[in-house]
Amino acid sequence: MTYSLITVEQSKSPISEAFRTLRTNVQFTSIDLKTQKIMVTSAGPREGKSITVANLAVSIAQTGKTVLIIDSDLRNPTQHKIFGLHNGQGLSVALFEDEDFRDYLKETEVTGVTVLTGGPIPPNPAELVGSNRMKQLIREASQEFDVLLIDTPPVVAVTDASILAQEVDGVIMVVASGEVSKDYAQTAKEQLDKVGAKILGAVLNKVDVKAGDYYYYYYYHGSQDKRKKRHHRKDRVSASA
Ligand SMILES: Nc1ncnc2c1ncn2[C@@H]1O[C@H](COP(=O)(O)OP(=O)(O)OP(=O)(O)O)[C@@H](O)[C@H]1O
Ligand SMILES: [Mg+2]
Repeated sequence: MTYSLITVEQSKSPISEAFRTLRTNVQFTSIDLKTQKIMVTSAGPREGKSITVANLAVSIAQTGKTVLIIDSDLRNPTQHKIFGLHNGQGLSVALFEDEDFRDYLKETEVTGVTVLTGGPIPPNPAELVGSNRMKQLIREASQEFDVLLIDTPPVVAVTDASILAQEVDGVIMVVASGEVSKDYAQTAKEQLDKVGAKILGAVLNKVDVKAGDYYYYYYYHGSQDKRKKRHHRKDRVSASA
């Protein structure tokens, strides 16, 4: 392996179990949809969006589904680093040159996980991810994979994620415990609500409970679930670091 993903290297670990819980919850919330288009974002930088996308993709692929990761963080693409892929070509080039995205897909060492890397950093990322070509790409890709997982830049600083949120079935928010203020996370949620995004829930990341040296992940349904009531389902699992 050229990379280190906990869901690959330690598939029986409690953290991998946490990703299976997340996988189950996402599947549960969109049970009636054929292809699931899920975007992962966060309020601020470095909260764990990209690593969550990668591990969730592995976890879903382990059920036999095909997953395409689209690295739409054209400002700071990282999926190629996580999966040990080249990034000389990728989404930015496919969009800019109006080329067939299929020519840019890269298989990973994980069966069932394909990545469209971000490609070289373009001068106009928001314009590219908001383009009709991007919408068409998402539409066409969803016909070829069981699940699309879309990695994005942070919500609050730039518009890219809010634009993309309108093209997917649901949004998962990653919240880095202790690193992002409640207000900041709330601002991100409001920005997503404003564009009509369906927030499926949140992953609380980087919770370091000193006493047991545990990471906790938990996932809850947002306020926009089908019953339209505030309903927090806490599927909490603990994971030794
Ligand atoms: N739970 C965790 N435990 C330990 N390290 C973590 C955890 N989550 C993320 N990291 C590390 O923090 C860094 C940032 O993670 P990641 O790249 O996934 O964040 P991001 O939100 O995608 O960042 P960016 O905003 O730059 O795109 C990485 O080095 C990652 O390995
Ligand atoms: Mg990232």
